[in-house]
Amino acid sequence: MNLLVTGGAGFIGSNFVHHVVANTDHTVTVLDKMTYAASREALAELPEDRVTLVVGDIAEPDVVDPLVAAADAVVHFAAESHNDNSLNDPSPFIRTNLIGTFTLLEAVRKHDVRLHHVSTDEVYGDLELDDPKRFTEDTPYAPSSPYSASKAGSDHLVRAWVRSFGVRATISNCSNNYGPWQHIEKFIPRQITNVIDGIRPKVYGDGLNVRDWIHADDHSSAVLAILERGRIGETYLIGADGEKNNLEVVRLILKLMGQPEDAYDQVTDRAGHDRRYAIESGKLRAELGWSPRFEDFESGLTDTIAWYREHEDWWRPAKDATEASYAAKGQ
Ligand code: NAD
Ligand code: TYD
Repeated sequence: MNLLVTGGAGFIGSNFVHHVVANTDHTVTVLDKMTYAASREALAELPEDRVTLVVGDIAEPDVVDPLVAAADAVVHFAAESHNDNSLNDPSPFIRTNLIGTFTLLEAVRKHDVRLHHVSTDEVYGDLELDDPKRFTEDTPYAPSSPYSASKAGSDHLVRAWVRSFGVRATISNCSNNYGPWQHIEKFIPRQITNVIDGIRPKVYGDGLNVRDWIHADDHSSAVLAILERGRIGETYLIGADGEKNNLEVVRLILKLMGQPEDAYDQVTDRAGHDRRYAIESGKLRAELGWSPRFEDFESGLTDTIAWYREHEDWWRPAKDATEASYAAKGQ
């Protein structure tokens, strides 16, 4: 197959392209706008006869249409992806996540091309800390932030195009990812690179917010399984039973990096900060036989810390501006 992978130069998209090259015979065309979150380095070293990068915007029909026409399937990762940025300026989130997804849907409808839409568990809003429930495919949508609302809207568009137009699509909603090539604006790489720089990690509010961590490689293997064997029209939740609160994560980072575990600062909370995400991934596991490879968060985090130590050349140019933008908000 020739796969069109949107957002394939971003954190998870690039991981997925590596996963596809290593585990299948598919060729890949990456369509990426190369925003601040994209990285050519993440795609370097991939064989040129298997992977081609096209720089372009998923919200431009003239760009999208010929690429979709030439593809056997589209895997759609491209998005504005950071909650804090969506609170500063929602407009690119509306354009890329909603207009961009609409543009892709019109192209796959016209050319009858299979689509897998990558989304987030944040579309379901949040859970109380003491709630025994986890999100399932039947949890009602209740997004909290401009980011999660735009992703929820994109999911609804995909569902409507399946039902109204018979588009051959699947959707996955995954929990929080960690691993190599994640932009240092995100929680785990921000704190790792802070510790490398001698800056105390910054925890929002009381730090008791829970995220359900999964390694990006496990997200990639799940997306490939759904693309290959998922049932058209279905949604699959992806998670690896990795619930941890932010204080636990920061203390573990500090311990693994040889610092006192209480050497962090508590800073201004995020507006509308979701309390807890938790995924019940039984459908994906039972139907498609998927299971995560990284079941030990501490060893996955140890690898990730080593990776950021070894790739300072990659993240260093973004560090000062990232921290200045947080500092301006007391974070
Ligand atoms: P990222 O921000 O690292 O990468 C996004 C990529 O999309 C970048 O390469 C960027 O240049 C590209 N892009 C942005 N706007 C574009 C446009 N208009 N046209 C073409 N390309 C564009 O994001 P990520 O963390 O890799 O997330 C990828 C996908 O996975 C997103 O859809 C996100 O909602 C979803 N997701 C992320 C997580 C997570 O923890 N990071 C969890 C669940 C789901
Ligand atoms: P983040 O990586 O932004 O992912 P998401 O908003 O998609 O969950 O944040 C993960 C958690 O960490 C979230 O509860 C917000 C919190 N957080 C901090 O406490 N400090 C930080 O510096 C950042 C960026 C996030």
